[in-house]
Amino acid sequence: MGALDGKVALITGAGSGIGKATAERFAAEGATVCAVDFDDATGRAVADAIGGTFVHADAGESAEVDAAFAACERELGGVDIAFLNAGIAIGVADMTTLTDDVYHRIMRVNVDGVVWGTRAAIRAMERRGGGAIVATSSLAGLIPFPLDPVYDLSKHAVAGFIRSVAPPLTAKNITANTVNPGMTDTNILNEDTKQLFAANDFPLMPATQIADAVFTIVTTGRTGECWVCQPGRDAEPYRFHDVPGPRAAGAVGRTPPVVI
Ligand SMILES: NC(=O)c1ccc[n+]([C@@H]2O[C@H](COP(=O)([O-])OP(=O)(O)OC[C@H]3O[C@@H](n4cnc5c(N)ncnc54)[C@H](O)[C@@H]3O)[C@@H](O)[C@H]2O)c1
Repeated sequence: MGALDGKVALITGAGSGIGKATAERFAAEGATVCAVDFDDATGRAVADAIGGTFVHADAGESAEVDAAFAACERELGGVDIAFLNAGIAIGVADMTTLTDDVYHRIMRVNVDGVVWGTRAAIRAMERRGGGAIVATSSLAGLIPFPLDPVYDLSKHAVAGFIRSVAPPLTAKNITANTVNPGMTDTNILNEDTKQLFAANDFPLMPATQIADAVFTIVTTGRTGECWVCQPGRDAEPYRFHDVPGPRAAGAVGRTPPVVI
């Protein structure tokens, strides 16, 4: 018996790296995987190897994301787990060289892709009576990353979005969390970066370690958390500091009715 027997898992960016490793881990736990990628060759190869289904979609296009979830529901009976993982880095450190085009290219997949995927996942999971959403943020979604500030922006956005989406979803039996990996040995890192880490004797994590974390996240039942993955450690939820509270008379110790 696998822990995910009978579950259907849709994974974006399933053709490579963290998405591929998670597809393989979920399938080994008994889930049926709907592998989504805009690279047909790699996405289809992953799906075929694990007995899953491949659906082509660009994660940044809402209509294609909706169509992928619809295909998963039609062909596999529903969506229990949505791993919104597709993402890119641009490696632009000097903001004076950032073009509008490059800015929109990264925000489209890293941020829009998570919003479209979350919307479609909630709609599908409402029909299923519950489910688990995990979006791939990054350590760069929790700390500064001067080598790629727009990537850092996109991953902070994912963390804030998922933490905000999660609380009301509890009533619908849906969990929503992020996974926040440190440097992981996948195709998103160029050879120079990999060599820099090797030369400094700093370990890159294997993608399977992040897949283990995603499996933990979808099976714990916890929600609204950002799970940090670091070399040599088990994944754990990041403990956000409390924001300083009000000092104004009448407000001490009280929570505001809304936060803007
Ligand atoms: N590798 C790391 O060090 C690291 C660290 C933190 C977070 N991440 C995040 O992990 C996620 C997965 O990246 P990875 O490291 O496995 O890289 P990867 O390049 O190996 O895999 C990314 C996959 O996403 C697919 N993809 C990219 N854009 C897409 C789009 N618009 N629509 C559909 N599919 C698309 C690619 O075809 C590829 O299969 C990304 O969100 C990335 O930002 C990676």
